[in-house]
Order: sequence, then structure tokens, then C-alpha cells
Amino acid sequence: MAHEEGDLHSFAAVLGNDVAIKAYREGKLLFPDGTIIAALHYRHVPSGENNKVFGRDQSFVAGSPTNIQFMIKDSKKYAATGGWGFGHFQDGKPSTDEAMMKACFACHQQMKARDLVFTRYAP
Ligand code: HEC
Repeated sequence: MAHEEGDLHSFAAVLGNDVAIKAYREGKLLFPDGTIIAALHYRHVPSGENNKVFGRDQSFVAGSPTNIQFMIKDSKKYAATGGWGFGHFQDGKPSTDEAMMKACFACHQQMKARDLVFTRYAP
């Protein structure tokens, strides 16, 4: 899970396929080819319903979905971007925003020590 404030006010559920989870559990770096990691993003909204039960403002839940992002490991196909292919989908459609897609690798490569993946495994 990740929660971002700033301009985003978002929740992310970060999921991995079997290859990703196996590598995570074994603490294996680099992630092997075939790894797929998905980040499902939602608005971060207060829950009036839950707050009523608590008697004060403390509950936040996932609101409407915003986008889904993918990282797919294929060290040959995506050699130019650290072995990772990046994907961004909104309303079921892939992004055609070149500047935004360029920013993926530019930012993620700062996490070189963990093969460009920020999210740690939550057992
Ligand atoms: C300015 C930096 C930045 C940019 C640009 C960026 N990301 Fe990320 N990304 C992060 C951070 C930090 C996380 C860790 C979780 C969080 O805070 O949401 C993350 C998490 C992810 C994850 C979950 C795996 C992981 O590394 O934790 C995926 C998948 C992902 N980003 C894909 C993308 C895609 C696709 C793009 C481009 C459209 C992109 N990111 C652009 C910083 C960035």
C-alpha cells in the first residue's frame, strides 16, 4: 500500500505476479524477466460513514479510481530503461503522453539500489 499527499491525495494498492512475489520473498535482486508489478491508484477520501461510528474525523478510504500503472521486466526488450517497461492506463486506455512516459524511468532510476522498485514487500 502507498498513500500520497501533495497534489495527489491518492491511495495505491501495489500488486505483483507470482514471479514478482517470489523474488520479493527471497529478497532477490535484480527482479527476473517476467516480473510484473501493478500500482492501482484511487483517490484518498474521508469516510463520513465510518467517522460517524468513530465519533470523530479519522477514517479515510479509497475513492474513485484514477489510473493503473505497470512495470514489466524484460531485460532485452527494455534494455534502454533499466530492463523495465512502464505502462500507464486511464479509463482503460494506455497513455500517449510522451513526456509523462519519459518521466517514469527518469524518476524510478533513482531507486537503482532496489532495481528501480520503490515498494518494499509487506509480509
Ligand atoms: C517523481 C517520481 C516518479 C515518477 C515520475 C513515476 N513514479 Fe512510479 N513510483 C514512484 C514512487 C516514489 C513509488 C512508490 C509508491 C508511491 O509512493 O506511490 C512509485 C511506485 C510505482 C509502481 C509500484 C512499484 C514501485 O516501484 O514501487 C509502479 C508500477 C509505478 N510506480 C509505475 C510508474 C509509471 C508507469 C510511471 C510513469 C507513467 C511512474 N511510475 C512515474 C515515483 C515515481
